[in-house]
Amino acid sequence: MRSFVKSKCLFITTRRRLNVLFENNTAIKQIQTEKESMQICKHCVEKGVDSIEVSGNGISLVGINEAYFLDFAKKLADEVSIPIILVGGHRSINNMNQILHSMDISFLSMSRPLICEPFLVKRWQENELTPSKCISCNSCYSTFAHRCIFKKTLQN
Ligand SMILES: Cc1cc2nc3c(=O)[nH]c(=O)nc-3n(C[C@H](O)[C@H](O)[C@H](O)COP(=O)(O)O)c2cc1C
Ligand code: SF4
Repeated sequence: MRSFVKSKCLFITTRRRLNVLFENNTAIKQIQTEKESMQICKHCVEKGVDSIEVSGNGISLVGINEAYFLDFAKKLADEVSIPIILVGGHRSINNMNQILHSMDISFLSMSRPLICEPFLVKRWQENELTPSKCISCNSCYSTFAHRCIFKKTLQN
């Protein structure tokens, strides 16, 4: 795998696929407008990327809603024909299912919930469907090896 940063996109290539991790910084940082974001993504599609993951820098804030890039990801999915992946704030299986079954988002990805509960997906598969225990406090960003600070008290 090889990756490189260019503009607001992180390009990740495997032998057969080119995925773009796109920083949609319109919502919080106002770095680019939504129109510009859409243009960048469409340009990537024209150049032949295989999928786009809608993400963003510096946005994983305390108390932020679930799926906070959904609006842009939804619009993007309506505009392009490649798979759209959405990251950021997914905490409950109900909301995640609702997104996957009611719109054209192909995949969801998670980061902090899996730091908090590495076996979260297994737990959900086993029908223990309470939401992720991650409270999005962001403390794991600054701990050694990015461990969850609640690890000793929260059970997997
Ligand atoms: C410890 C840690 C390290 C991260 N490192 C990166 C990174 O190097 N590049 C990146 O694009 N996002 C990085 N992220 C952001 C996540 O990929 C993700 O976009 C963000 O945490 C929001 O998703 P979540 O609510 O599922 O955690 C990092 C997140 C955490 C918690
Ligand atoms: S420290 Fe734990 S609860 Fe806080 S954001 Fe990280 S994984 Fe979530």
